[in-house]
Amino acid sequence: MRVTRLLEGASSETHATISQDQFVSLVAKHKALLLQCDEGSDPLSVDDFAEFMESLQLQHYEYVGGAAPRRLIPVKANVEVYTANEAPPDQLIPFHHELAQVANPPQYIFFFCDLPSETGGETALIDSTSGVCDCSKYLYYVAASSILIHMCSHDTIGDKIPVYRYVADHHPEFMEKLKLHGARYKRTMPAEDDKESPIGRSFYNTYQVTSKDDLEKKLNNIAGLEYEWTPDGSLTVITEPIPAVKMIEQQHGHAIYQWTFHNSVIAAFVGWQDSRNDRTQAVRFGNNDEMDQDVLGAIAKFMDDNKVSYKWKKGDVFAINNRLVMHSRNSFTGPRRVYASMFGDVTEIGTVKRDGVGQVISDFSALNVPDPTTFGMWRLGGDPSETVYNAIKAGYRRFDSACDYGNEVLTGKGIRRAIDDGIVKRDDLYITTKLWNTYHHPDHVPLALDRCLQDLGLDYVDEFLIHFPISMEFVSFDEKYPPEWQNMNGEMVLVKNDITATWKAMENLVASGKTRFIGLSNFNCQHIRQVLSTAKIRPTSLQIECHPHLSQSKLIRFARDSGIRVSAFSPLGGTSYISLDMATGDDLLFENPSVVGISKRYNKTAAQVMLRWSIQRNTLPISKSSSLGRMQENRAIFDFYLTKEEMDAIDSLNKSRRYNDPGVFCEAGMGTFCPIYE
Ligand SMILES: NC(=O)c1ccc[n+]([C@@H]2O[C@H](COP(=O)([O-])OP(=O)(O)OC[C@H]3O[C@@H](n4cnc5c(N)ncnc54)[C@H](OP(=O)(O)O)[C@@H]3O)[C@@H](O)[C@H]2O)c1
Repeated sequence: MRVTRLLEGASSETHATISQDQFVSLVAKHKALLLQCDEGSDPLSVDDFAEFMESLQLQHYEYVGGAAPRRLIPVKANVEVYTANEAPPDQLIPFHHELAQVANPPQYIFFFCDLPSETGGETALIDSTSGVCDCSKYLYYVAASSILIHMCSHDTIGDKIPVYRYVADHHPEFMEKLKLHGARYKRTMPAEDDKESPIGRSFYNTYQVTSKDDLEKKLNNIAGLEYEWTPDGSLTVITEPIPAVKMIEQQHGHAIYQWTFHNSVIAAFVGWQDSRNDRTQAVRFGNNDEMDQDVLGAIAKFMDDNKVSYKWKKGDVFAINNRLVMHSRNSFTGPRRVYASMFGDVTEIGTVKRDGVGQVISDFSALNVPDPTTFGMWRLGGDPSETVYNAIKAGYRRFDSACDYGNEVLTGKGIRRAIDDGIVKRDDLYITTKLWNTYHHPDHVPLALDRCLQDLGLDYVDEFLIHFPISMEFVSFDEKYPPEWQNMNGEMVLVKNDITATWKAMENLVASGKTRFIGLSNFNCQHIRQVLSTAKIRPTSLQIECHPHLSQSKLIRFARDSGIRVSAFSPLGGTSYISLDMATGDDLLFENPSVVGISKRYNKTAAQVMLRWSIQRNTLPISKSSSLGRMQENRAIFDFYLTKEEMDAIDSLNKSRRYNDPGVFCEAGMGTFCPIYE
């Protein structure tokens, strides 16, 4: 299939095929795509539709738990195509994420129009996230034979206020309660599909069972779910509490990190009404508290006022990112045939490269990062144990420590206090520490980690990084700890060292269980290549200085291509370096007009914009602050999304200005010229 993308005022791009990756990237970026035939060309048939979906190789999704009556449509391709919700034409189907009332809703839902209705029957969309972004701005048209994608010139969902933002701004207490408790749904299902009801799917069909015994077995296995048989043979189910506001992290490598109003609460309140169900009883908070019906009504009205409706044409396809966008169906007259198909994410192979490095990252949970913010321990003023404790209370779970920061005993004390107070468990935390330059010799590597563990009071760390690609003369623990940059004679002494031997010693630490992962810091592309040339365990992450003045795009790309996650230190730029005389007030980014302009648009601070920029580049920002207010500020970055133009504007501030440069500070402070990036 040929895909031509025609952007208004921009040159067109031509691809030989639409690959899975292109598709996933488009739907992550734009949230919904409309694939439409060119005027005059033959519309797609249902078999074309099915073949197109099969070619994308998305993950099969088992359709269990849905309320809508549907039938399977026979197609030649090896995918499942159902009728869309067959609710009677005069009934509106309210906004919902497909299957938001089950624990694992599909990631993608596709609709195909075989026969448009005479009047009405539009599918309407609304962005359910927190951010306005160009991701949602454009629907795309795709032609059938040679697929053409171009911007839709009419109504777009990006001009509207997204649902999460509306609810958070106008009904904050409701939002907080929904976040905390989730929602429980109550639905009574008949024994046979009831075509007169939009929620008339039978319990056999809903749960994909053929006997009541099997059904009861299934239901008894769901903790927190309650059910009851009614005298007429129907089944009433009250679900377990289901998360109703979600953080969407990553989808196929795209850093989404957005809150979404992801539930069926409004759909249940508006539409779960039939001879068996009373919509006002259909939904409660997860702790069984009733929901305020005025609030539910106001949200329903907001959705209706802000929806974008699309009138179907024969052969049209909608591809919807079901985690980011809600859909609904207007009532209609005349026959209408719209089909639906659901999929999970793409299959999870290939996220980490396998280029000969015997891949040993077996626990991918460390690479999926539900909360990408990390708190750094370098040069913390005051009592670091108090700061760590407060940071954990403020919500941080990732901590970046190092022998060189000289405060691991107090860091450990703060962690221990938070664990003892029941705020977190050790497993909830991700603790990184680093191998200092004087311990690169393979004999010293395990000793260095033991000392970090002893100081931190931990049995293991989550990640151990080589701090710098700089090997220095050994200084014994008794003489000086941390050794810093100079030996007992006040000299910085570089030594010859084979860094691949250091890496091998790091690998042995993984085997010992004292660290879960190992990685690198301040390494450039060539240093990384050298490590990879003999590595048996791939570095999990690369920690580098990264902020709008030093965007490091090539290094990040190289690391990513090598299957290495990137974390960004000093994400706020030169701030920390002023007191060290390594930056001046002119280097600060807090007053930068570009950053400030963007921050005002979202009612955010300049710091929050820089941290969000880092996250949207798929790098994990490591920031630090001694103030509780700023700790909280630096984490309040999941309710907005920077547009491509805004990301580009911040990218353009890059001037390759490195504040933490051994090529400069080693000579200035220790009299040793030690460039590593040149
Ligand atoms: N691998 C390495 O070689 C390396 C090198 C450097 C750093 N790091 C890691 O990265 C961490 C962070 O580096 P960094 O200290 O340069 O981080 P940063 O977060 O970019 O800068 C911290 C400075 O910014 C201020 N600040 C924090 N939040 C602010 C906000 N919202 N508004 C205004 N000012 C704010 C802090 O002051 P207040 O405390 O007054 O809020 C502090 O002076 C370190 O702690 C360390 O863990 C690693």
